[in-house]
Amino acid sequence: MEKNHHLPLYVTKSAKARIPFHLFAVSLFVGVCFIFVYRVSNIPSEEEAGRWAWIGLFLSELWFCLYWFITVIVRWNPIYRCTFKDRLSLRYEEALPGIDIFVCTADPMIEPPAMVINTVLSVMAYDYPPQKLNVYLSDDGGSDLTFYAMVEASSFSKIWLPFCKKFKIEPRSPEAYFRTAVEPLEDNVMAKEWSSIKKSYEGMKKRIETTTKLGRISEEIRKQHKGFREWNLVASRRDHQTILQMLIDGKDPKAVDIEGQPLPTLVYLAREKRPQYHHNFKAGAVNALIRVSSRISNGPIILILDCDMYSNNSESVRDAVCFYMDEEKGHEVGFVQFPQSFENLTKNDVYASSLNVIMGAEIPGFDGNGGPCFIGTGCFHRRNTLCGQKYSDQECKANWKGRDDIKIEESASHVLEDTSKVLASCTYEEKYTQWGNEVGLKYGCPVEDVLSGLAIHCRGWRSIYFNPERKGFLGLPPTTLLQSLVQHKRWSEGDFQIFASRYCPFVYGYKKIPLKLQLSYCIYLLWAPNGFATLYYVAVPSLCLLRGISLFPKISSAWVLPFAFVIIFHRAYSLGEFIWFGGTVQGWWNDQRMWLFRRISSFIFGFLDYILKLVGFSKSAFVVTQKVADDDVSERYEQELMEFGASSPMFTIIATLALLNAFCLVGGMKRVIYMMDVQTLVSEPFTLQILLCALLVLINLPVYQCLFLRKDKGRMPTSVTQRSFMFAILACALAMY
Ligand SMILES: *[C@@H]1O[C@H](CO)[C@@H](O)[C@H](O)[C@H]1NC(C)=O
Ligand SMILES: *[C@@H]1O[C@H](CO)[C@@H](O)[C@H](O)[C@H]1NC(C)=O
Repeated sequence: MEKNHHLPLYVTKSAKARIPFHLFAVSLFVGVCFIFVYRVSNIPSEEEAGRWAWIGLFLSELWFCLYWFITVIVRWNPIYRCTFKDRLSLRYEEALPGIDIFVCTADPMIEPPAMVINTVLSVMAYDYPPQKLNVYLSDDGGSDLTFYAMVEASSFSKIWLPFCKKFKIEPRSPEAYFRTAVEPLEDNVMAKEWSSIKKSYEGMKKRIETTTKLGRISEEIRKQHKGFREWNLVASRRDHQTILQMLIDGKDPKAVDIEGQPLPTLVYLAREKRPQYHHNFKAGAVNALIRVSSRISNGPIILILDCDMYSNNSESVRDAVCFYMDEEKGHEVGFVQFPQSFENLTKNDVYASSLNVIMGAEIPGFDGNGGPCFIGTGCFHRRNTLCGQKYSDQECKANWKGRDDIKIEESASHVLEDTSKVLASCTYEEKYTQWGNEVGLKYGCPVEDVLSGLAIHCRGWRSIYFNPERKGFLGLPPTTLLQSLVQHKRWSEGDFQIFASRYCPFVYGYKKIPLKLQLSYCIYLLWAPNGFATLYYVAVPSLCLLRGISLFPKISSAWVLPFAFVIIFHRAYSLGEFIWFGGTVQGWWNDQRMWLFRRISSFIFGFLDYILKLVGFSKSAFVVTQKVADDDVSERYEQELMEFGASSPMFTIIATLALLNAFCLVGGMKRVIYMMDVQTLVSEPFTLQILLCALLVLINLPVYQCLFLRKDKGRMPTSVTQRSFMFAILACALAMY
């Protein structure tokens, strides 16, 4: 037993095959240098046409190289973690820390209450002492429909939790469980309970969905819980008092499930909203929860979750606790980030939503460079860290083990409800202005998560990335093109805002975090400017082709080799990486298309929006991504057909570029016809440009389909088609004359 104490609770492994990657990176770099030598030594002279096009292309390539360099830094030394939960139980089963789980929802129409409570039930059912689990729902929609679903969930949990624990079922979101589980055989001990629980789950789901559809709470339901009376005072979702209801008070000896076992605390919170106060979106909601929970349960570890991300593994909490309780290094850990994974992705993932490469290759690289960034969901935070504490070696080492001094008020739930309400009021943060700044999640940034994570790193904490084989949390991906583009626009805009602010990692993190971590952050913070380099690269060479300006070496020249080498190896590596992390070849091709679309639309618009906000033209708005789609749209998603059926300037850009490249290719084809004999083919200076243009046409095939062939509602709207035709023709005309 004594010896046992020296075994760590987790181990860290380096990735294998680092050397081949380093060799690959170095050789690619040599290739890139050759390209630059070619660009510099062959600049067209002042008189020649295309001097500026050439210089522009050179600048784009310089940018790509710089960005590629960052991606290499990130991938240089990825590490992977592995936990020992058995050792944890052996040593600390009696001393496990309390966990406060925050689930955030914002709108009952976009995030249906039936989905929200599945997430809530899945985390209530964690394999962890229930007295130490506290689940908080923050409802920024301030909706009685969500509250009603929570009331239903609190009573369903009384049969669901014992069922989960008795039969050790997984996953513990009832919806996911009943969707995937095979019904047990008649004579199985489980059979009877199984069908009765399934029936009551379905009954509950039906009641919730009917009420949600109806849009209001019937009189009969109102009588079920005193909490509904609060809505008598609610003027609108943007104008209401704090609503705080403890649906289950875990400290109450009467709060037990049907087997007499204690239940986790369950709290519903809709913080106060008034039109004259800015509510700071999700960061504001989380900060209100941090304060309210400090009075109710004050768990030293906080799990932040989005409402669509249910727990797929009932032991994730124990995994996270292993990192915190490790005797050697546990005291340094500020947060433990789990990957963002999705269920219900289609086979070839037409919108490249899977994030597999980011979660499989890039974030482990962050971990190797000093710690993953905080990605907003699926993350276990140390409460003190989140509340602004700086890391200091001795203090943290001493404090963490003697956690028993946590004091909370021991009062009845209705007293707690009353005394805690003020913590979620609009005016609270006027008095304590450090909130949103030094304390809690930071305000004023569309990606408050990345910024807050960076601030935690800069206060000296480490973070840990834990990516087990079986995913800890599963969420819903965007299911239309526009959702995906809008989401990326918000990310790229927010990320760039951080880069351009005083929080730029090179300034804010100077001497506080390692240089390689500062650089790693830039892989996301510099998304937006990528848009311009890409836009240039997909438009200008094609237009120059039309005009007859050559920008690449002749196919017979030796300068072709570095181009070919860099392009082929770089893409081959990307394909290999994609497949390694569970993708398909077709999926990779789709990913390349989305890579292009995001850069030429989301990133550009993200950048422009940033500029507009800077000069004060537009205000921030946080667009919640739709989590449900109508049947039509779902069907096309299942068939992996791209969904354009909406009028958006982003689609105009995409369609314009697709058409432009098609026109330029037709123009370029004239040359191909001359190329019929080998002699001209070899001396032809346009071959590479034609290939680039053809590749762009090929990758845009679904766009042409949506423009010309498809008849369903997902096709390109006529107005977008007209506009993009106009722009494309205009651009070609300008290039030619
Ligand atoms: C997942 O997909 C299945 C079938 O493809 C569908 O029935 C189900 O509603 C989807 N789940 C969610 C949460 O969208
Ligand atoms: C989710 O959990 C189930 C077991 O309950 C497992 O079979 C499945 O692979 C998990 N999903 C993912 C994506 O890891």
